[in-house]
Order: sequence, then C-alpha cells, then structure tokens
Amino acid sequence: MQVPRFPTNTPIDKILGGGLEKGAITNIFGPPGSGKTNVALCSLLNVKSAFYVDTEGSFSLERFYQLGGSAKKMQAVVLVEPGTWQEQHKCILQLESSIKKSKPEIIIVDSLVALYRLELDGKNFQQVNRQLATQYSVLSKIARTLDIPVLVTNQVYSTGEDVELTSRQIARYWSKCLIELKRGKKVGHRIALLRKHRSLPEGKEVQFEIKQNSLKEVKLGLF
Ligand SMILES: Nc1ncnc2c1ncn2[C@@H]1O[C@H](COP(=O)(O)OP(=O)(O)OP(=O)(O)O)[C@@H](O)[C@H]1O
Ligand SMILES: [Mg+2]
Repeated sequence: MQVPRFPTNTPIDKILGGGLEKGAITNIFGPPGSGKTNVALCSLLNVKSAFYVDTEGSFSLERFYQLGGSAKKMQAVVLVEPGTWQEQHKCILQLESSIKKSKPEIIIVDSLVALYRLELDGKNFQQVNRQLATQYSVLSKIARTLDIPVLVTNQVYSTGEDVELTSRQIARYWSKCLIELKRGKKVGHRIALLRKHRSLPEGKEVQFEIKQNSLKEVKLGLF
C-alpha cells in the first residue's frame, strides 16, 4: 500500500519514500549550520495552513523568499516565537486547543531544545525533562489526531553530558522518524542519513548542497 507522504521539497524526500510521515513526529538533528532550518522552511512551500514555532529567531523571511516562498505563502503560516522555555511550554500546550480552529497541515518546531538547554540550571533537571517529554507527547497526540506531520529540529552538541543523553533518549522515544544531518567530505556538502523509521530501512542517505534557491542533491560519481 502506498501511503501518502508530505514533501519537504528537499532531497531528503528521497530517503523518506517521498516525504514526511503523517501522524507522527519527524526529528531532524545535526550540528549548527547543517541545514535543519532550511529543510523546515522548504517544508512550508506548498501548504495552505501551517503552524511554525521558532524558538531561536531562525525564521528568516528573506531566506524563505529565496527558497521559493512569497508573501502569499506566508499568509498560510502562523508563526509563533516564544522567548523562554516556559513560554514555549505554554505555547505547545495551547496548540491542542488552537489546532481545533486552524487545522494546520503541518506543525514545525525549530528548535525544540534550544530554550530547554538555556533553562537547565543543574537543579531543575527532572522538572524540565518532564516538560520536554510532555511537549513531545502533546505534539505526538496532535499528529495522530489530525493525521498530520510534525517536524521538529534538534541541535546536537557532542558534549556527552547527561543533559544531552537524556534529551536524546526522550527524542528517540517520541520521534517515529529520525534524520541526522551532517557535513559531507567536500566543502559545502551535507549528508542526510535516515536513523529511524517505522516503515523504511535505516541507513539510507542522500547528499545535498544548500544553494541560493534550493537544496540540491549531489550525485556522486564513481571517480
Ligand atoms: N542563500 C544561500 N545560499 C547558499 N547557502 C546558504 C544561503 N543561505 C543560507 N545558506 C547556508 O545555510 C547554512 C545554514 O543552514 P541552516 O540555518 O538551515 O542550519 P541549521 O542546521 O538550522 O543551523 P542551527 O543549528 O544553527 O540553527 C549555512 O551554511 C549557510 O551558509
Ligand atoms: Mg536552525
């Protein structure tokens, strides 16, 4: 059976069998500059209604227009910009009621963990992790109820600290699809690697470059 997917309009669709899975959370993780926000912006290009939570001021209208967006397409996007972890928490909890009216085709959170990291102070570890898990569970429930994709991004640092490991475990548990973005061997090349999927084999990868107007697949020759 061919299940309809939701295109990100990027080369990543190739390793996802056409695009994001509906009814589930897809998590794109990778280091700074790996292309997470670019993929998030491209996913907005053909929607009639979207909810976009920008937690780190990454949403650039200029970049959206470069990638094919327009003022008209922007009208389809409800952009929310929480400035603190508690604001983000409130905003995600409120989504459950606001989606009843606006019925988005996709929900994007870029990034889910930037403000989470800022909030952690050594004493509130359990409480903040509980809030992170709650946000994931709310997003997961909405994805299933509306049968829409939820795309979240996750910046990854290789510190190996407990914080990192715990948030990774929570992310792994709740995200039914995990995509890792990393830099390729050649300057400017990025690699997208499928790390987890409910119905596709893991390990599929695609290389791409971030160009002025699109994310373009790089086909590597034998020589
Ligand atoms: N017009 C453009 N042409 C080519 N590359 C561009 C253009 N605009 C942005 N980029 C590239 O996109 C990359 C940043 O991608 P993006 O913002 O999606 O990364 P990110 O993974 O979201 O990073 P962060 O974790 O810091 O949010 C940079 O390498 C930047 O040079
Ligand atoms: Mg970003």
